Amino acid sequence: MHTDIDALLREIARDVQPLLAEGRVADYIPALSLVPREQFGIAVATVDGRLYGAGDSERRFSIQSLSKMYALALALQREGDALWQRVGREPSGTPFNSLVQLERERGVPRNPFVNAGALVVVDVLCRRYLQPERAVLELVHRLLGEASVAIDGDVARSEREHSDRNAAIAHFMRSFGNLHGDVAALLDAYCAQCAIAMSCSELARASLFLAADGAQPRGARVVDALAARRIGALMLTCGAYDAAGDLACRIGLPIKTGVGGGIVAIVPGRLCVCAWAPGLDANGNSIAAAAAIERFAAAIGASIF
Ligand code: DON
Repeated sequence: MHTDIDALLREIARDVQPLLAEGRVADYIPALSLVPREQFGIAVATVDGRLYGAGDSERRFSIQSLSKMYALALALQREGDALWQRVGREPSGTPFNSLVQLERERGVPRNPFVNAGALVVVDVLCRRYLQPERAVLELVHRLLGEASVAIDGDVARSEREHSDRNAAIAHFMRSFGNLHGDVAALLDAYCAQCAIAMSCSELARASLFLAADGAQPRGARVVDALAARRIGALMLTCGAYDAAGDLACRIGLPIKTGVGGGIVAIVPGRLCVCAWAPGLDANGNSIAAAAAIERFAAAIGASIF
């Protein structure tokens, strides 16, 4: 087993370089299409307080669907198990922005990580908070113990102006009675939440509660231990959408991906690792970040299986 984490991360950052030319930067959100593809960062935060990084580990990027972990934690904290009446806990086997299951399944999304499920989560938050995106941002500030992380207004506006697909999903679920609030306000909050910008090092630190039974190490409790286990189980089975099975085989850890190119992985009881590279595969998951986390997990023997 590799024990020099800094050296391992530097080695990984070097070895993934050829992969940075692969894949496509997300372009259905125009502001994200401007992000240069050839960038890579990786960071590790341990439950006993150590932090390691290599490459662009301090450069902030658009967290996109990684925000769904924090929004889900907040909704579970507020709503408890009642949330599961409105959103399922099964992998979808469909792309993150698919509508096809919603008609057959009467407007109840398969899980809280596909866009439909994340929109239901934000709808729950809309009833609890005047500005749900601020609540998610404030949770991130609490997790980090400082408040410099912010929403990138350009990315939020750019996604909001091109949100026909998510608007269709939201209206469709509303027609089944599974969305209660105003769709325009919901989309404003959702796009703003997805546009939070964070670095690998911030994401690894902010996600530690998921590796530590729901409480930030030496910090406040975020969710109870059962909720933390459930978020981990959903990350393993649904965190990478229709690539969840493949990435569970390759990495063997709960992970969450985002179209900004970030991937967060949880090693229960030990650490969180976040890698970032903007080039995405056809499923919207970062090619180099997935390869880097696969390599890291194998090197430290992190697979939960
Ligand atoms: O709703 C969307 O399409 C984006 N704001 C988030 C999608 C995303 O990050 C999917 N993850 N790989």
